[in-house]
Amino acid sequence: MATPETQRRIVVVSGGGTGIGRAVCAAFAAEGAEVVALGRRAEPLERTAKELTAEHAAAGGSVRALTADLTEPAEAERVRDDLRAAYGRVDVVVNNAGGNVLVGAPEGAADGLAGAAWHWTGNFRSNVLTAVLLTEALRDLLAAPGGRVVLLSSIAAYRGSGAGSYAGAKAALHPYMYDLAADLGPRGVTVNTVAPGYIAETEFFGPDGVADARRRMLVEQAMNRRAGAPADVAETVRWLASPAAGHVTGQIIQVNGGAEKGR
Ligand SMILES: NC(=O)c1ccc[n+]([C@@H]2O[C@H](COP(=O)([O-])OP(=O)(O)OC[C@H]3O[C@@H](n4cnc5c(N)ncnc54)[C@H](OP(=O)(O)O)[C@@H]3O)[C@@H](O)[C@H]2O)c1
Repeated sequence: MATPETQRRIVVVSGGGTGIGRAVCAAFAAEGAEVVALGRRAEPLERTAKELTAEHAAAGGSVRALTADLTEPAEAERVRDDLRAAYGRVDVVVNNAGGNVLVGAPEGAADGLAGAAWHWTGNFRSNVLTAVLLTEALRDLLAAPGGRVVLLSSIAAYRGSGAGSYAGAKAALHPYMYDLAADLGPRGVTVNTVAPGYIAETEFFGPDGVADARRRMLVEQAMNRRAGAPADVAETVRWLASPAAGHVTGQIIQVNGGAEKGR
């Protein structure tokens, strides 16, 4: 059923052009929301916006592409100015942009102290700064009461990520969420984190995807013996952003088929 323009929720999804972010955009567009998808590359964003707007037009949903590199304060400010002028408020912010800079890194890039500085800084920028700068830019635009902020962490925050920097960056989001939930709670805004395990069908693992042996190992670790899909995460985000989850804040929801404790 189409939602009247005045009641359409304004939903901002970073990294909305691909993978989990695209599925999050789809879930909100299906509910009739006006979704703004952010990312650095225009091509996947515009393709996603066009496809999802066509798919969910009957429900009154739409997706708009807005390019921005969210590691840059000026870019986050530009996004805020655009959203303020276009809508005057934001109902939901989904901080999904991120990734592991070590995936697909050139041979030797992570070697030595210079390499360590590179991937720790890179993963901090990609996973922490993108979320912090977007959220801080938009916090005064958040609908209150009723606003929602969701951050994307990872199972890696609980178990490590090999070299530590990706996991450490994701783990840094947890105390940021606690502080933000405490700050915004009195205004009726919730702040939560979703921490997925292995999710297939995204660009996270690079153009070649996960090697077969590793994929089998990741699936074996899940108690339900399957890979996660972007929609598994998107549905959890959608629920956290719903009125039904109004008393859920400052929480980390793991979406991993039980893999964190799998055996
Ligand atoms: N797939 C998994 O197994 C898995 C597991 C746990 C957690 N996660 C997390 O889930 C989130 C989504 O990942 P995914 O699996 O869907 O991978 P993905 O397809 O690579 O999506 C990441 C998105 O983030 C965007 N992005 C990256 N850096 C950005 C920046 N500086 N500014 C704006 N946008 C930026 C990318 O677009 P551009 O490159 O165009 O900017 C891309 O659309 C990430 O935070 C990831 O760490 C994934």
